[in-house]
Amino acid sequence: MDDRRPWWRTAVVYEVYLRSFADSDGDGVGDIGGLRSRLPYLVDLGVDAVWITPWYPSPMADGGYDVTDHRDIDPRYGTLADADALLDEAHERGLRVVVDLVANHTSAEHPWFRSALAGGREAPERARYFFRDGRDGGRLPPNDWISAFGGPAWTRVREPDGRPGQWYLHLFAPEQPDLDWDHPAVQEEFDGVVRFWLDRGVDGIRVDAAPAMAKVPGLPDAGHAADATFDSAGWVDNPHWDVDAVHEVFRRWRRTADGYDGDRLLVSEAVVRGPERLSRYVRPDELHTTFNFDYLRAPWDARAIRAAVDGTLAALAPVGAPATWVLSSHDETRHLTRFGRASSGAATMGFDALGAPVDLARGRRRARAAALLTLALPGGAYLYQGEELGLPEVEDLPEDALQDPTWERSGRTARGRDGCRVPLPWSGQGPPYGFGPGDGQPWLPQPPSWRELSVAAQQDDPASTLSLHRSALRLRRELLTDEPLTWLDLGDDVLAFERGAALRCVVNLSARPVPLAGLGRSLLTSEDLGADLPPDTAAWLAPG
Ligand code: GLC
Repeated sequence: MDDRRPWWRTAVVYEVYLRSFADSDGDGVGDIGGLRSRLPYLVDLGVDAVWITPWYPSPMADGGYDVTDHRDIDPRYGTLADADALLDEAHERGLRVVVDLVANHTSAEHPWFRSALAGGREAPERARYFFRDGRDGGRLPPNDWISAFGGPAWTRVREPDGRPGQWYLHLFAPEQPDLDWDHPAVQEEFDGVVRFWLDRGVDGIRVDAAPAMAKVPGLPDAGHAADATFDSAGWVDNPHWDVDAVHEVFRRWRRTADGYDGDRLLVSEAVVRGPERLSRYVRPDELHTTFNFDYLRAPWDARAIRAAVDGTLAALAPVGAPATWVLSSHDETRHLTRFGRASSGAATMGFDALGAPVDLARGRRRARAAALLTLALPGGAYLYQGEELGLPEVEDLPEDALQDPTWERSGRTARGRDGCRVPLPWSGQGPPYGFGPGDGQPWLPQPPSWRELSVAAQQDDPASTLSLHRSALRLRRELLTDEPLTWLDLGDDVLAFERGAALRCVVNLSARPVPLAGLGRSLLTSEDLGADLPPDTAAWLAPG
C-alpha cells in the first residue's frame, strides 16, 4: 500500500452506535467499556476505523444527538478517561477513531439554551439560536419550515412571566434548538470543540446534519406543502437546507484540521439534491469526504445502482475527493430488510414503507451480494454495526419500547429508527445475547431469532455472513488500492466492473443465471456457486 495516500481515501469505517454496541456494566445500555472490550472483534473483522455516534452528556431526546456539553462524556457511557483509554487502545490495535460532532443544534438542556429561556426576550443567548416572534399576533409559527421528525420546525416558549412568547427553531426535535451559525460566539465555541477532540487524538470528525448549518437571512418561507415531509434530497433553493453560506463553516474547520498532523478526516452527513450539490461539501478547502446517500437510497436495480455509482464518481472527480459507499446507518431501515421488499429504496429517517411485506431470505441474499459490490467500489465504505452479521430491521418492536422522536412527532404513523438500533447479539441462547452482563432485555428488546445471528453462532461458520465480510475485507486490503473502476458489459441488469488488473466484480440483479466462464478465477462469492452466477448473487474474480 502507498503510505503517502491519506488513510481515509480507501478506509472501511465501522459505525458504532454506542448505546447498542456492547454494554460493560449491565445497565442494558452500550458504553465505552463495552466497545473497548470488543476492539479485537473489529480488528479481526478487518475494518480500518470506527465512527462512534455521540457520546456526550445528553438527555437522550434523540439518542445523544441532543448534546448538553460537547467536551465531556455522558456518565452512561463512561468518562473522559475512558475515552482516552479507548483512543489509546484503538490506536495500539491499528484502528482509527472518528467522533461525531453535532453542531447544528444543542440540547434544550444546554446551558446556553436554558439561559436563553430564563432570561426572557432580551436574553443575549437568544441571539445564538433562532428566536422569533410568531405571525398573526404571535399565534402562528414565524414561517412554514418543517422538522425532519415531522410537524413544524418551531415551538413557542413560555416566557419567564408565564405567558406564551417567542418561537424557536428546531429542524429536528423540539429538544434540539438550532444554533445561529452567523453568531461569532457559536463559531468560536465550536472552533474550541473541534480542537478539543483533535487535541485528544481523534483521527476524524463526522459532521452531523451538515447542510442545516446555514439559513437564508430573514428566514423566508420554504413553500412547503401542508403535508410535506423532510425530503431534502429533492429540495432546490431551500432556505433552511444546503444554503451556500454553510460552506464557510467547513472552510473554517478545514483550516483548523490542517494544522494537525496525521491526516485527520472531516466527513459529513449531507442528504442534498444529487451528486453535484454533494461535491461542494468536499471541495479541496472543505471537508475530505461525505456519506453518499444516492447509493444508499438506490433500490435493488442495476440501472439505478449504476447511475448512483457513475453520478457520484463523475461529480467527485473534479474536486478530487474519494467516494464513500454506505448502505445502512442508525437512521435508515436496515438494507437487508429493504432489499427483501418489492420496493427496495430507502426513505429518510426511517419514514419507509415499514410493514410492507418482506422476503427475508431474498433480502439476505441480496445484502450478501451488496456487501461484495460495496467493498469492491473505488474509495471508502461504511459498515453499520450488525450489517456484518446480516441483521434485519426489527419491525415488530412493541409500541411502548419505541424511543425515536419520529414516532410521536409523526402522530404515531412512522415508527422511526429504533428497529435498526436494537443492541447487537454477541453470544448465547437468549437476551441479552452477550450484549452485556446479566440477563434480561437491553434498552430495546432483541428478537428470539437473533440467536442464530450472534457473533458466536457465526464466528466459525465459513458460510456465515460474518465470515463473508471478514474474507471480503481481507481480500480488499490485499488487492485494492486506488485502481479506477471500468464497467464490463454483461447486460443491463448485471453490474460488472474491474478495478485495474486486481479484481473483477460481477453482481447479478437479473432473474437469470449469468455464466462466469472466461471472466477469471473465483476469489470470493456471496453464495456457493457452480459455473454460473445465480440471481441476487455476486462474485469477485481474479482477471486473467
Ligand atoms: C443526523 C443523525 C441523526 C440525528 C440528526 C439530528 O441525521 O444521524 O441520528 O437524529 O442528525 O441530530
